[in-house]
This record gives sequence, structure tokens and C-alpha cells, in this order.
Amino acid sequence: MALRKALVTGGTGVNGVWVVRQMLEQGIEPIVFDWAPDFTFLKDVKDDFRFYRGDTRDLAALLRVIKETRPDAILHLAALMPNAAQADPRTGFEINAMATVTVLEAARLGDIGKVVFTSSKGAYGDVTGEYGHPTFRPLDEDYPARPVLVYDVTKVASEGMGMNYHRNYGIDFIALRFAGIFAPGKLARHGVLSIYGRIVENAMLGKPTRIPQGGEQRDDNVYVKDVANSIVLAAQASGTRSRIFHIGSGKLHTLRELAAVLKEIYPRAEFDIGPGLDYFGLGHNVYSLHDITRAREELGYEPQYDLLGAVKDYIAMMEKFGVAPTYTG
Ligand SMILES: NC(=O)c1ccc[n+]([C@@H]2O[C@H](COP(=O)([O-])OP(=O)(O)OC[C@H]3O[C@@H](n4cnc5c(N)ncnc54)[C@H](O)[C@@H]3O)[C@@H](O)[C@H]2O)c1
Repeated sequence: MALRKALVTGGTGVNGVWVVRQMLEQGIEPIVFDWAPDFTFLKDVKDDFRFYRGDTRDLAALLRVIKETRPDAILHLAALMPNAAQADPRTGFEINAMATVTVLEAARLGDIGKVVFTSSKGAYGDVTGEYGHPTFRPLDEDYPARPVLVYDVTKVASEGMGMNYHRNYGIDFIALRFAGIFAPGKLARHGVLSIYGRIVENAMLGKPTRIPQGGEQRDDNVYVKDVANSIVLAAQASGTRSRIFHIGSGKLHTLRELAAVLKEIYPRAEFDIGPGLDYFGLGHNVYSLHDITRAREELGYEPQYDLLGAVKDYIAMMEKFGVAPTYTG
């Protein structure tokens, strides 16, 4: 059955807004569910979709929306980010894992056959050996999940519960494990996690960027519009062999390469990025290259943005929606 409409939890978040926009462009009706709406990147299309304010932990609220709107699928993006989940593990687990079960239960009770879950490379926790620097053997979906942070654990738990709703009730559950994502609006919302945003937005402001360490590390960072495309493709897919897919850019870049791209656009931009490998300073290795063969073959996913194209689009979207860049010293 063709996808006509889908409920998007977290639909006004950093990724959600581009999912909503892409659905509208393709003639698929988004029904947006979020507890803290931010329409900055949706202001021109705000009247084109139904919005419900609510909490994904509230089964009754989800069921009311489903009964009223009758979506064909749920695209589940609502979640707390790693720092928030780490600071409050119980709430982190409730929102990122238990609420995923609530969403699955809402799908079951509401007779919705499809759920797309937004997972993360965090599922792998520590990526070691030949899969890390400097060899970067492409990581496929069969690499063992060894979650480290609370956020990572919630992603693996959610995936496992999705598999059980598939096994028990036949729900077509798909989990997308994203590489790092960069997006306009992410820096203001997610702060330190958005190191790409920091480099782009400081350059937009004509301010220097100093990052003390990590200039030699390479990592896979995918642009938010490719992410949105993958979510819409997964929502439309049927009868896939696999249930877990990697979504990435297919490429590795250093922060210094990103800085060089910014210098092409803003020749006077200044960057000082120190040596070493761990720019996030996490102490375990999160830098790796997603093998996206499975998503290419089964979902028809193909990244559309190279680094320069993504940076140009990022800047264009900030300007189009009147979002002031954030300075991070
Ligand atoms: N941004 C990344 O780099 C990245 C990487 C991998 C995976 N992901 C995953 O993609 C999904 C979307 O992430 P994002 O970057 O857009 O995050 P975001 O924080 O920008 O958006 C999440 C949205 O969910 C809403 N929300 C949170 N808890 C809620 C609740 N209990 N009930 C209702 N709404 C709630 C928030 O208000 C927000 O609008 C998440 O599952 C995230 O874990 C993101």
C-alpha cells in the first residue's frame, strides 16, 4: 500500500522538520506530534499539516491522535539527546526506550503496520581495531552492539523491542542507525554535540574557531536532508530483508577538511584545530565509517550531499529561515 500519511513524533526537532518538509513535497501527509514545538524551519508550511502537542510516554494521547488521523505509519524521532539522557538516566530511559515501546503499542492497538525508528551509531558504543583510525574498515550492521552511554543503551533496547513487535504482531519495524548528523539549527539546540555546526556558524559570523584537539580524526557525518530522505524511504519500503540499516554519508572527513570547505566560501575565516584524534574527548572511540550498502540495496538510499554541497545548503537554510548563527568560542 502506498504511504499516504504518517505520524511523525519529534516532528519539530532538528531532523523532524526536514522529514515533514520532504513528506509535504512528496504529497505524503505528515501528522506532527511533539511536546515542545519549534516551527522555525516550518514557518512557511505551518498551515499544511496537523500538529498535536503531547508526550510520547502518554499512550492514551497517541491513541487519540491515531484514532483521529488514521496514519499508515509512525516515524518515531522524539528522543532526548545523549547529554540529557546521561544527566538523568531514568528519564532518559523512559523517553528514549520505554516511550518507544509505548509508540509500538500505539501502533499495535491502532492497527498501524509500519514503524520507523531513529537509532544511532551509539548502538556500537566503542568501535575498535581496524574499524577505527587509521584503517576505517567500513562498519556494517552486523558489528556487535556494545552500547556505552545511557543514550546508546536506549537505542539498542528500542531496536530489540521493535523486533519483538515485528515477531509477535507483524509490525513492519525498521531501525535506521545514523552516523553523525549535521544540520542547521542543531548547534543552538544540541550545543557541543554539533561540532560541524560550530565550525560552519563561527565562519558565518566571521569569528575564529579554536578546537584544541582532534584535527587528525576522520568521521562519517551525514547532512540532515539525506537523513530525512532515508526516513521517508524507510517509511515507504515494504518487504525488506533487513530491519536495521546504516545511514551515513559514505565518506570520511576531518574537521580540518570541513574548515577548508568553509574557507572556500568565507576566505577570511580563521581556524585553529589542534592535533590528535578525540575531538569530543569521550575517552572511547566513536569515529567510524558506516557501510551503507544495505540501505542502498534495500531502501534505494543514496546520499545527495557532498561536504561542500551540504555546507552551502546549511548556510542557505539558515539565511532562508532567518536563523542567526550561534557563536561558540
Ligand atoms: N542529531 C543527530 O546527530 C542524531 C544522530 C543519530 C540519531 N539521532 C536520532 O534522531 C532522532 C531525532 O533527533 P534530533 O536530532 O532531531 O533531536 P531533536 O532533539 O532536535 O528533536 C527531538 C524532538 O522530539 C521532541 N521530544 C523529545 N521528547 C519528547 C517526548 N517525550 N514527547 C514528545 N516529543 C518529544 C523534542 O521536543 C524535539 O522536537 C532521535 O531519535 C535521535 O536520537 C540523531
